[in-house]
Amino acid sequence: MEEKLEKVKELLKQENAEYLLANFDTLNSFQKEIFLDQILQINFKQIKDLYNSIGKNKENDNAKIEAIPYVEKEKIKDEKYFKKGVEIVEQSKFAVVTMAGGQGTRLGHNGPKGTFILNVRPEPKSIFELLCDTLKKANEKYHVSIPWYIMTSKENNDDTVSFFEKNNYFDYNKNDVKFFMQGQIPMVGKDGRILLNEDGLIKLAADGHGGVFESMFKNGIVDDMKKRGIEWVYIGPVDNPLTQMVDETLIGLAEDKKVMSAGKSVVKANPEEKVGVFCLKNGRPSVIEYTEISEEMANRKDENGGLAFGESHINCNMFNIKGIEKIGADKLPYHIAFKKANYMDEKGKVVIASEPNSYKFESFIFDAFEKLDNMIILRVKREDEFAPVKNAEGVDSPETAIKLYNDFYNL
Ligand code: UD1
Repeated sequence: MEEKLEKVKELLKQENAEYLLANFDTLNSFQKEIFLDQILQINFKQIKDLYNSIGKNKENDNAKIEAIPYVEKEKIKDEKYFKKGVEIVEQSKFAVVTMAGGQGTRLGHNGPKGTFILNVRPEPKSIFELLCDTLKKANEKYHVSIPWYIMTSKENNDDTVSFFEKNNYFDYNKNDVKFFMQGQIPMVGKDGRILLNEDGLIKLAADGHGGVFESMFKNGIVDDMKKRGIEWVYIGPVDNPLTQMVDETLIGLAEDKKVMSAGKSVVKANPEEKVGVFCLKNGRPSVIEYTEISEEMANRKDENGGLAFGESHINCNMFNIKGIEKIGADKLPYHIAFKKANYMDEKGKVVIASEPNSYKFESFIFDAFEKLDNMIILRVKREDEFAPVKNAEGVDSPETAIKLYNDFYNL
């Protein structure tokens, strides 16, 4: 450890970050090892660049933003897309990734979001089990076993895996379920200094679901998909028990139009709804997140009186395996959020945040769309596919999701 400590001291001197060692002596030897490894993994230049970019002109400020064309699922009369999609599923060329690395802070659930029990009919089930049911139904219908990859994070991986073990993988074929972890990045304070956790270790946070590609490459998931002959990959959220992961029409349409990616939208309920919206940014498909859209844009009307940017991104993303290879393992750009975070200060005192006090860096999966030339947006009906579980109460809560779920399945 002495050698490692010397190396770290040298590094921190170079990076002007010796403040990180202020509480080092208070850590036990086990924590010290972890702490030193954490420091050796920090990309200090990246953190500095991100901090220096705060408040600077955002890319969107100068970009040409336009509404995006979409296809309305309800209006598709041609059966050929559906049939094409069925073929792909039947030939075992389709896989699913569930992004379950988020913390679910707003829901206030103590544990991975997928383990949250929804009181649906006929019996209460966890969100993971409800998602699993959707896949099992498709497996039965098409006599296949769809590979299911679940992205976790360092914070919730062990709990997620043990939940699946405890529940015997909900009788899914265990060989077709694989977990992989997304990355983490340090949080920084208002002064740009890297924060320490309440326990004195580096304050790391999940680096957003945009890290899904990098993690899939790093963890052999892309190789596994290729070995299995997978051509289309649905990548969706854990927080929507109604998400229709095996959408034959979407798969067939994407294949027919020879695009590398596809996504589903629902009509945005109102300008304030907390959803990202699809758009064309400098001619390329993109999503503007609800935290970054201007009030003017959120309220802008089109010629029919609807919202000009009204195609909500419901986090249902699909990529061709070639598209995934094109996106590659490179990092997607980070977005910056100002958050409340408790931390340990340099005197070893724990500071409990009562207001936002720190920066969190997150990349978003939808920034990958811009790397591919074109995509299909399929507008679906909200009540068929979108029952988000975000907040403990009120809008997008377990209560609203349960109702939507029961109504959709006539339970
Ligand atoms: C998200 C979308 C938003 C969309 C809305 C629809 C993002 C950034 N925004 O908003 O455009 O309209 O859902 O409901 O996704 N996750 C990870 N790792 C992370 C962070 C999140 O796996 O590091 C997963 C979560 O577990 C969840 C999903 O991504 O399944 C969405 O995450 P969340 O950050 O809660 O997104 P929203 O703000 O609700």
